[in-house]
Amino acid sequence: MAKHNTPSSSSSAAVFFRKRWMMLVVVLVMFSVALIIRSGMDSSPCDCRQDVVLGSENKFSSASPPPPTPRPPTITAAPSPSPLSFMKSKLVLLVSHELSLSGGPLLLMELAFLLRGVGADVQWMTNQRRSETDNVIYSLEHKMLNRGVQVISAKGEEAVNTALKADLVVLNTAVAGKWLDAVLKEKVHLVLPKTLWWIHEMRGHYFSLEYVKHLPFVAGAMIDSHVTAEYWKNRTEERLRIKMPKTYVVHLGNSKELMEVAENVVAKRVLREHVRESLGVQNDDILFAIINSVSRGKGQDLFLHSFHESLIYIKQQKLQVPPIHAAIVGSDITAQSKFESELRAFVESKKIQGHVHFVNKTLAVAPYLAAIDVLVQNSQARGECFGRITIEAMAFQLPILGTAAGGTREILVNGSTGLLHPVGKQGVIPLARNMVKLATHVERRLTMGKKGYERVKQRFLERHMEQRIAAVLKDVLRNVKANQKAQ
Ligand SMILES: *[C@@H]1O[C@H](CO)[C@@H](O)[C@H](O)[C@H]1NC(C)=O
Ligand SMILES: *[C@@H]1O[C@H](CO)[C@@H](O)[C@H](O)[C@H]1NC(C)=O
Ligand SMILES: *[C@@H]1O[C@H](CO)[C@@H](O)[C@H](O)[C@H]1NC(C)=O
Repeated sequence: MAKHNTPSSSSSAAVFFRKRWMMLVVVLVMFSVALIIRSGMDSSPCDCRQDVVLGSENKFSSASPPPPTPRPPTITAAPSPSPLSFMKSKLVLLVSHELSLSGGPLLLMELAFLLRGVGADVQWMTNQRRSETDNVIYSLEHKMLNRGVQVISAKGEEAVNTALKADLVVLNTAVAGKWLDAVLKEKVHLVLPKTLWWIHEMRGHYFSLEYVKHLPFVAGAMIDSHVTAEYWKNRTEERLRIKMPKTYVVHLGNSKELMEVAENVVAKRVLREHVRESLGVQNDDILFAIINSVSRGKGQDLFLHSFHESLIYIKQQKLQVPPIHAAIVGSDITAQSKFESELRAFVESKKIQGHVHFVNKTLAVAPYLAAIDVLVQNSQARGECFGRITIEAMAFQLPILGTAAGGTREILVNGSTGLLHPVGKQGVIPLARNMVKLATHVERRLTMGKKGYERVKQRFLERHMEQRIAAVLKDVLRNVKANQKAQ
């Protein structure tokens, strides 16, 4: 896969590469935050691990989002006050099921920082805390402490007292439900009415009373996409015979750091050149990629089948297109998964090694988004809960070829910002056709990328997510107050 440049004997070439390298270092340092603190591999919380991310349009308690009408670019005005400013001096307790670099916890941390930004008193607890010496935990806790978020123990008297005192408790992911009884015990009913439950998963085993039996009694549930919210409603009713509380759909937004890289032409170019060079992909070649953890649910196998079909088609039809490549970003050879071995065996059997590139799992997705031409979102079955990588790719002006399932349908406008294909085997040929379409129609590809970017600017920025969350918190606090008065 990774092809390295042979060292050049020419000194001017050496200087050139040294300069490029320096430039890359500068860019990487500039954006280190964006590159490191990212949940790229687990962009789709639902069906992979408990990761997540969100944005929101609220079908349940507010009007549907307006149709995407392109607006002229807005001129950056003076920063307006945060929509969360009413949270100033409120005590908010955030309960995370774990602390790691996966989507769920990172998203809750983003909320912690937004709330700190408006002067809320934010306390954080991690229910399943691994060892003290874990480097990731250590650095994340320090990051929080540095930004004024108090990190407290999830157990014991302090935990209970903080929960009782808090104006609002945010419970993150279904699994965190275990914390309620384990820690609050007989006081749990005092805390439920002011608890907002943020849910990012859609996998079957979360529909268990062990986790969610208190769900009907919390102030509200906040869920990443309409389809996931509907799924929760169906499943809890049918399987568990419990009723969802008031449910808010909150689509995610892109972080400011990611947008900064995406909108920096120089950074993008340097990252693009560097990544392409390391993969052995020429500047004019067309690079399709899936950026997700490698697993059957993410559909890398079907993607490779489609890619192979499109190579055959291009050859048969003698189409004049630049060489096309496929990248699987999220590979983990050490995991020795049967699935990944299958992918590699397929590539060998079809003799397409020169066209397919496996890239190790990484949290730094920005360089790959800068380097590719088309993002393929091939999640299978119910699809993604939301799929943050999709809006991240759109920020980089990339068209999306996505399965017609899950949150992808709420992000992608078919025919405008990308093209949908069916899940499963029936999607293989349609995806192959869509790949050939984007390879042959350069203008179409670029226009789709631009439309995607416009859509991100309209509704998938951190600012939008902040507005959506603010509306939810306002409503929840209002109801808490009304209930207290009624008692
Ligand atoms: C929920 O149930 C309704 C009615 O049974 C069905 O039409 C809908 O597709 C289901 N939604 C999900 C997401 O499962
Ligand atoms: C990818 O990961 C494998 C296993 O950890 C390692 O041996 C290999 O060097 C890595 N490749 C690159 C390009 O970093
Ligand atoms: C997406 O649009 C294409 C045409 O642009 C159409 O053929 C296809 O059926 C659409 N798919 C879905 C799921 O709407």
